[in-house]
Amino acid sequence: MMKTNKISNHWSQYWKTGQLTSLPQDFQKNYTGEIQQQWTQVFNNLNKNSHILDVCTGNCAIALLSASRSKIQNKNFKITAIDAADINRKSIEKRFPDQISNLNKIQLISNCKVEDIELANNEFDLITSQYGIEYCHWEKAAQQVHRLLKTKGNFVMIAHSGSTEIIKTMKVEKSDYEFLKTIEIFQCFDDYCCQSINYAEFIKQLKTKQKLVIKRFNNQPSELMRALLLATDGILFMQRNILEANKIELIKMQQQYHHAHQRLNDLFRVTQAINNNPNWHEVFIQSNLRLIEKRNIFQNGIYQTGTFFKFIKS
Ligand SMILES: C[S@@+](CC[C@H](N)C(=O)[O-])C[C@H]1O[C@@H](n2cnc3c(N)ncnc32)[C@H](O)[C@@H]1O
Repeated sequence: MMKTNKISNHWSQYWKTGQLTSLPQDFQKNYTGEIQQQWTQVFNNLNKNSHILDVCTGNCAIALLSASRSKIQNKNFKITAIDAADINRKSIEKRFPDQISNLNKIQLISNCKVEDIELANNEFDLITSQYGIEYCHWEKAAQQVHRLLKTKGNFVMIAHSGSTEIIKTMKVEKSDYEFLKTIEIFQCFDDYCCQSINYAEFIKQLKTKQKLVIKRFNNQPSELMRALLLATDGILFMQRNILEANKIELIKMQQQYHHAHQRLNDLFRVTQAINNNPNWHEVFIQSNLRLIEKRNIFQNGIYQTGTFFKFIKS
């Protein structure tokens, strides 16, 4: 039996969209480029019938890549994928029907934290993590990885880099979200949807709040603010009867911003923890894994998107 976990509600909501990765602005489907190449190499080096566990799997991006390699190379991998969030196969299938056969090869365990996995000892030839295990309690997760791996098994992760540049960018985005919170732009959505204010009052308030956004971001609106201004323009120009009939969309939009803010806070917390502890990966060494490879990953050879680590259980 697995313990359930409901702390990752914002991740659960995100994965319901069916996106395969947590970076939809960079990857429309699954990971491509350098990240995909690294994983292809890892799966190519595995023997037939290997057991793979992908932790913090989200919508199974890396597990799906392994299923695809297994099919291409006729390797019959046995693949398990786990995440603390609520992961729904149907959402993935709906958005990516071409992935159904790969998805059928994966045993998916959702609502389960890495720290609480109760699978048997010495079960896996390979444990993988893509922007994942660094979100967990590091020491407990490292002990689990050691326990679950077979002797000579590998743990491979591509982790966030903790780069100071990324932290700077995230700070800007965080202050954008905090500004939206301060001006309570979404409060009028709520008030209108639960009929505390009427249509005319809603439009008046939205116009006022939109002006505040324009005033603050006059010359250089961020991507986030540009998207919000476009969306609010769409609402202000919508015919009244259409808007009234689609109030539910306003609530959805408000929730999307709220969850995106929470995901950003999560990412910020993790990136900053890595920045403060650049040798954080040593928790795996302290759990008796041996580090055999560590290098930076660059997307399109330009910006550092993560750090690749390979460990072995000797
Ligand atoms: C940035 S996403 C990465 C997902 C996926 N590996 C990918 O590359 O698209 C991080 C994931 O870690 C999960 N997560 C966070 N803490 C966790 C924990 N303690 N145990 C298991 N999963 C966790 C979240 O629910 C989320 O799905």
